Amino acid sequence: MPTSTATAAGVLHVTGARPNFPKAAPVIAALADRGVPQTLVHTGQHYDERMSDVFFRQLGLPEPDVNLGVGSGTHAQQTGSIMTALESLFLEAPPALVVVYGDVNSTLAAALVAAKLHISVAHVEAGLRSFDPTMPEEVNRLVTDRLSDVLLCTSADAVAHLGNEGVHADKIHLVGNPMIDTLLANLDRFDVAAAREQHDLEGAYAVATLHRPANVDSAADAQALVKTLHSVADQLEVVLPLHPRGRAGLEAAGLLEHGGISVVEPLGYVEFLGLVRGATAVVTDSGGVQEETTVLGVPCLTLRPNTERPVTITHGTNRLVTREDLAYAVGEVLAAPDVEHKVPPLWDGQAGPRIADVLVGVL
Ligand code: UD1
Ligand code: UDP
Repeated sequence: MPTSTATAAGVLHVTGARPNFPKAAPVIAALADRGVPQTLVHTGQHYDERMSDVFFRQLGLPEPDVNLGVGSGTHAQQTGSIMTALESLFLEAPPALVVVYGDVNSTLAAALVAAKLHISVAHVEAGLRSFDPTMPEEVNRLVTDRLSDVLLCTSADAVAHLGNEGVHADKIHLVGNPMIDTLLANLDRFDVAAAREQHDLEGAYAVATLHRPANVDSAADAQALVKTLHSVADQLEVVLPLHPRGRAGLEAAGLLEHGGISVVEPLGYVEFLGLVRGATAVVTDSGGVQEETTVLGVPCLTLRPNTERPVTITHGTNRLVTREDLAYAVGEVLAAPDVEHKVPPLWDGQAGPRIADVLVGVL
């Protein structure tokens, strides 16, 4: 059960899943610089050392004031448990403002509870849309944005989506991408030579990271994914830090049967990006990784029919590919590994301070 949180009516951040942590770190640091009282809640949606604790250590995040310890479950179970626990917390010591990040169940749950208690909500990474209602994240994005009072956008397309949905311009702020603040702040730590040594890599290699339900949940999808990953591994070595969601299914589908694929536990942030930085190609369905490869200039092949992050295609190194096309696309990258890319506007390492200035303005 949660223990009591701070009594100050300052800013309360709700985090819970791996991608939340690199987004929250620069916002928390910039608010601390401005002397704003803060409380950090971890819902416990992700709980493995490698999915959570390692980020707190490597990114210098403060220890959470409260860990709700909700763990895994169905969408309703997980969202409901987070809501119940957060409601008690907010009733006990109402914050002036709740800040939520991205599009995970922890984000949605916190926005719902805060809105019903008439506590203002700020959404970091508002307005992204895949227009794919089968993605749980799209449901979370739509509802969270609808309930938010302060909508902090990473890109101009997100601002446009919110405008099209009737959100008043006064609520929308184009602030840039805090995940890229974290990337740029840690760039010197991304050590390609160390990554090569750790994974015993000599030549060109690809990094794969896959966890979307549409790619890994059903036995048929897992089998098709394994087949396509094996055809990538026919061309170059593949390192796959495997998200726990897909492990059992992909292994049952024969993932480990190809000697060219090295399946490892999820990596720490610094180790993962060291590996990505030196890769010839990245194969992913991760949202954050599409953005990080855009800035690092590493070709990114996204195994999805859509992306809520189109600037990674228009400016960055990202391409959407099907399972059928992946092996061919990897061949193309191997033949022409240098891709032209631009960094999207305001992905400059200053999103955290911009967000903090907006939040101080609304407090
Ligand atoms: C969640 C997010 C997804 C995000 C991803 C980032 C939702 C709906 N989805 O998906 O948007 O891209 O996090 O990684 O919020 N598990 C562990 N250990 C952990 C955490 C999870 O073993 O520390 C396993 C459990 O079997 C669990 C499964 O992973 O059932 C899925 O976890 P969950 O948090 O429900 O969703 P993700 O697939 O991680
Ligand atoms: N990441 C990591 N180790 C890994 C895989 C990913 O540190 O083994 C980082 C990645 O660099 C990015 C974040 O986790 O900062 C993205 O999280 P994830 O892919 O789980 O979620 P998504 O962005 O798809 O919601």
